[in-house]
Amino acid sequence: MIQQSPNAAPIDEAAELLGIDHVEFWVGNAKQAAFYYQHAFGFQCVAYAGPETGLKDRASYVMRQNDIQLVLTTSLLPDGPIADHVRLHGDGVRDVVFRVRDVDAAYAALVARGANGVTEPATQEDAHGQVRRAAIAIYGDTIHSLIARDDYAGAFLPGFVAREVPKTIPGGLGRIDHVVGNVGWNEMDQWVEHYTNVFGFHRFVSFDDSDISTEFTALRSVVVASPKETIKLPINEPAEGKKRSQIEEYIDYYRGPGVQHIALTTADIVATVAELKGRGVLFLDPPAAYYEQLALRLGDMKLLESMEALKEQGILVDHDEKGYLLQIFTKPVTDRPTLFFEVIQRRGSDSFGKGNFKALFEAIEAEQARRNTL
Ligand code: FE2
Repeated sequence: MIQQSPNAAPIDEAAELLGIDHVEFWVGNAKQAAFYYQHAFGFQCVAYAGPETGLKDRASYVMRQNDIQLVLTTSLLPDGPIADHVRLHGDGVRDVVFRVRDVDAAYAALVARGANGVTEPATQEDAHGQVRRAAIAIYGDTIHSLIARDDYAGAFLPGFVAREVPKTIPGGLGRIDHVVGNVGWNEMDQWVEHYTNVFGFHRFVSFDDSDISTEFTALRSVVVASPKETIKLPINEPAEGKKRSQIEEYIDYYRGPGVQHIALTTADIVATVAELKGRGVLFLDPPAAYYEQLALRLGDMKLLESMEALKEQGILVDHDEKGYLLQIFTKPVTDRPTLFFEVIQRRGSDSFGKGNFKALFEAIEAEQARRNTL
């Protein structure tokens, strides 16, 4: 049984972390990354900041699809924090930004509880209003900015200009379900404690916690969630397993801890995955044996989707006592095998699909046995 961490006193309402506002990536070429997210995933570029708007050192593209906002930022200089980050990590997530009501209250509360503050609260403004912003460091070179934007009516943030772009065909993606961080060997517990003691999060107890799959997955994972569970952050660490840890590979290539994947919701995963595949998004394919074993795993659980359609698209199914979920993972979206995306549709289940690790492993073994290569 996993021990529950003692929760610290709740953070008061003014300082509450309300949700994920956006995720900012630091990349080598934001113009081309924006084109990829637009045409492959169906995001629309809604705002921009760069030399044309008075910035000397960077350019940023704001990509939006329904409630998902991704910001792609590149350095215009050979050195400085963005260029250094890209040289060390490759393209990756710099900032998982939380929306708050009161940045000063949130920053003060978090720092008082032991957060590592990196940017003190400051006001940014332009003709459309103002925002207050601060930042806290977390694992690796990753940060959580805190942002209050109620007094701002512009396209995105002060300094950004609205972009008029040809209408993009949406990819069917709705909002960010969870953001997963990879941390180093034996570092998971300390980060779980950090999120519970400092941020006031709690361990999100789900089916995954039964830890049925450790021997197969070479990863250990715990989910932490904000008090109202509007922010869910699974944290992985590498473990010794039957296969080389994919977490270990990430840490090696990313040169340290960082964001591993971002899960995006859809209301119709079969249609969304077909659409994204048609645009060139590459997904991991489960072995055919996965679907032979799926009926047994599901038992009495009835799916609304046709098994044929799920198999055709390579969509995975996991279930718990509350329902089921459908999920699929992209191949890494960077040349280093680091960052990828998940597309997820929840049908009652609030778990994260850990049962699929074991099922995938067993499916691969079944196929190896068939080929006499075990
Ligand atoms: Fe996930």
